[in-house]
Amino acid sequence: KTGAVLHRTVVLVGMMGSGKSAIGRNLAARLGVAFLDSDAEIEAAANASIAEIFARDGEAFFRDREAEVIARLLKSEPCILSTGGGAFLAERNRRAIAQHGVALWLDADLDLLWDRVRHKDTRPLLRTPDPRGTLARIFEDRAPIYAKAGLRTKAEPEYSIDDMTDRVIETL
Ligand code: S3P
Repeated sequence: KTGAVLHRTVVLVGMMGSGKSAIGRNLAARLGVAFLDSDAEIEAAANASIAEIFARDGEAFFRDREAEVIARLLKSEPCILSTGGGAFLAERNRRAIAQHGVALWLDADLDLLWDRVRHKDTRPLLRTPDPRGTLARIFEDRAPIYAKAGLRTKAEPEYSIDDMTDRVIETL
């Protein structure tokens, strides 16, 4: 039944903490298609965590691996593809996504994002003296770029993962 209900791959984009992985996994299960995750693929190939790759090889190296992985995964059957929060910023990725699928922005407000990421130590970009301020700045810089996504679903604090999945399905 894989691909039966999807004509094109839906690529989830948006900030760290917007729910791309959790909602993506749930959405794929509901639609009966595969779930792919670019960060997970990069980690598996490098046999290292994202934080380790940033520390050891630098962000530019990570971004190159990310672009390669996304280009490769976009060639699969239509599926749900979750990307890291920075992926959609790169023009090469936006172009590849537009060619092979459609981007869906999970649009969550800053308070909600901070609430979700504050307890975790997995995001190298937030390892700063003022992680909330850093998150706010990243959010402001990126929002206009995420807005280029063809589809958008607004996240609300009271929505469960299932609720968000319903909203996304309505958006598709
Ligand atoms: C990043 C987000 C992370 C990961 C890396 C960089 C970003 O993914 O790709 O830490 O630039 O926003 P999540 O959005 O899944 O946290």
